[in-house]
Amino acid sequence: MRWTALLSAASLPCGLLAAQVPLRSPLASGAISKMNKQNWKQAANSFSWKEAADIFSPKDLVGLGRPGAGVANVAGDLVLVPFSKYDFDEKKNKKSIFLAPIESTVKPLEIPLAKGGEAFWLDTRTVGHVVEGENSTLEFYAIDVQFEAESTLSTPKSPVLIGSFPSTGATNFIYNPASRHLVFSAEVYDDGDLTTVVQQDKEWEERGTTAFVYDETYVRHWDTYVGPKISALFSAPLSRTPDREWAFEQKWTNILKGTGHSSPVAPFGGTDDFDVSKTHVVYTSKDPVLPEAWHTKQNVYIVPVTGDSEPKELTCGKQGATHSPVFSTDGTKVAWLELGEDGYEADAFRIVLYDLSKDVRFTITDHWDRSPDALAFSKDDKTLYFSAGDEAKVKVFSMPVPPTPLSDETDYAKPLALTSSGAASGVQPLIGGRVLFSRSSFVSPNDVFVLSGIEESNADATLAKPPTVTQLTNFTAADLAEKHMSGGEEFWFKGALDRDVQGWILTPKGFKKGDEAAWPVVLLIHGGPQGAWEDQWSTRWNPNVFVNQGFVVVMINPTGSTTFGQDFTDAIKMDWGGKPFVDLKKGWDYILGEYPEVDADRAVAAGASWGGFAINYIQGHPEFGFGFKALVCHDGVFDAAYLGYSTDELFFFNHEWGGRPWDKHTKEVLDKFSPSLFVDKWSTPQLTIHGSKDFRLPETDGIAVFHTLQQRGVPSRLVIFPDENHWVLDHGNSLKWHYEVFRWFDQWVGMKAQ
Ligand SMILES: *[C@@H]1O[C@H](CO)[C@@H](O)[C@H](O)[C@H]1NC(C)=O
Ligand SMILES: *[C@@H]1O[C@H](CO)[C@@H](O)[C@H](O)[C@H]1NC(C)=O
Repeated sequence: MRWTALLSAASLPCGLLAAQVPLRSPLASGAISKMNKQNWKQAANSFSWKEAADIFSPKDLVGLGRPGAGVANVAGDLVLVPFSKYDFDEKKNKKSIFLAPIESTVKPLEIPLAKGGEAFWLDTRTVGHVVEGENSTLEFYAIDVQFEAESTLSTPKSPVLIGSFPSTGATNFIYNPASRHLVFSAEVYDDGDLTTVVQQDKEWEERGTTAFVYDETYVRHWDTYVGPKISALFSAPLSRTPDREWAFEQKWTNILKGTGHSSPVAPFGGTDDFDVSKTHVVYTSKDPVLPEAWHTKQNVYIVPVTGDSEPKELTCGKQGATHSPVFSTDGTKVAWLELGEDGYEADAFRIVLYDLSKDVRFTITDHWDRSPDALAFSKDDKTLYFSAGDEAKVKVFSMPVPPTPLSDETDYAKPLALTSSGAASGVQPLIGGRVLFSRSSFVSPNDVFVLSGIEESNADATLAKPPTVTQLTNFTAADLAEKHMSGGEEFWFKGALDRDVQGWILTPKGFKKGDEAAWPVVLLIHGGPQGAWEDQWSTRWNPNVFVNQGFVVVMINPTGSTTFGQDFTDAIKMDWGGKPFVDLKKGWDYILGEYPEVDADRAVAAGASWGGFAINYIQGHPEFGFGFKALVCHDGVFDAAYLGYSTDELFFFNHEWGGRPWDKHTKEVLDKFSPSLFVDKWSTPQLTIHGSKDFRLPETDGIAVFHTLQQRGVPSRLVIFPDENHWVLDHGNSLKWHYEVFRWFDQWVGMKAQ
């Protein structure tokens, strides 16, 4: 039992068990794969990634706290931040919330949520907590908070049970005390009734078959087969009695009943898909008539919070998707983000304002070449605040709310950038002209910040003096203090069509200018393709984890990337194998030219989704001359035509490839760019990883890549995660993912040999 001893030694990271032997030759791989099957517990290969006090390892990434975005109470003196941290001993993701004072030196308070659940503000000193109870119900508690700015922050009493929900499906709670109604979403059957869900779930489970039957799309969406329920919005009376008791009437009104609307919109919609004023709820829903799989059109509606009358549509009827509908503070206006084109999801969002008192709708930011991603009105309703990507950072912007015009073609003003670095989210104006936001970067997960002293802007949308930024939390700084964290440096080069293209380079500890060919290098290729490598924390593609294993990391934002202007994003349409690869290669050559410290003979590349398409495409195009010694493809496209038939959101393919996969012109584009058509050139060792619950890009594409590599005798390995979707989310699976990726790179470019 020698291997048991080996296992307990430092030869394996984090108690992971594996039986990998380097697949040096295709001849050996058959035999080894059999051994893998029989002895998966054996540590035949002694690979382990680097761990040390100053190294930010995959285990550090998985075990680091994960703060969400902060939400302030109505008074604007406390912020609530959802938090989770993985416990390796218990193999459990522990959830909690932090309450942090906004203007006080009192330390933040952590409230553990042993059973998880959702926490949200009920009023300025009360947090609501909804958590699973007995018999498929949810229990609803009020947690009283005691806060004196100069002395205490505590929860002196046990949580008080104020009611329950008849189904565990209730989620996405918003409470506006002025409305005296709690608004939330829940998945319900055809009768739209919250109280019959548990019984109908039981009947569905016991229907005597496991079949799903479809007469229309979606069949499956993101990671779920679509079942008989849809998401609806409910309201239930909730208020405080004069003696400060919570009165929760368990009277559930489905405010979407009979409309065919579904909100929030799957798969990613949440509380950002609706908002609650004193009297009304505004929400976005997919158009109730159009086939979902090949349309993106979403309409915005307003309905009384009591559900006493039918919803009224606020959108004009010609839009594409809509997001983030919000009320002004006084409830007389609604603003939302809107895309122009049905069938496209990466247009620039326009801000639409609807003045309810005058019944007038108009669009602002028409001529602004950036795309906001969430909106909020200031407390005095004079200013709109939002976040938007700008050259690979996500900044906080503001712009004045225009007076209601007669025309809906107003381009009112140029938004003003209030921050300049990192990636902002959760932008929320406070009283006194302050603005709360959360921000992460390459070197840190979220912390919460507040902007104050925001001056009026100059005519050219600049500030004479930048606002004061105060940091309120410090969630992970102590854990990362000793680690080598590279902040990344931007570089710009001339790409396709002689256009300026941006990228990031991050360097390992000990990197010294002038050390020739000292470092292996990895090119990371992002997905989307309408996405970007931004100065942002990631728990899935964290460049500092690669840096800390000894790689120089190069991340390029090629044609198709967002945050550099809409024409740059749009230019990838029907050109997946064209301009992006000109950009990637020119950026790569730029780095090799400017950084002789990089060892071009120890270069590797990895990418997921569109980035996985890019890996498979680079495999088939050795003439590009990247010279990679090994590749990693995560959930990547193999046969692009098949994508047009098998993916969940068909509109995406139809837009990107210029039509249906059988259309003549689309077939011509597919014949140029489908990675499957170039397998005769494949020769680079490749690790392929796929999640079986990836319904965006089915796992058969990953299996097909592996089959191809194996039959061609190219060193290859396949890792399947049966429970993962397009992303690897489980903590243990994330460790395994990193283990396989670094083991693969180590095998081909010896990342430790410097
Ligand atoms: C749960 O169901 C069991 C069995 O029907 C019952 O005895 C128990 O009281 C229920 N609990 C609650 C909290 O309703
Ligand atoms: C956060 O913590 C780090 C390390 O513990 C410390 O160096 C830094 O000053 C703190 N920053 C703030 C704003 O509290």
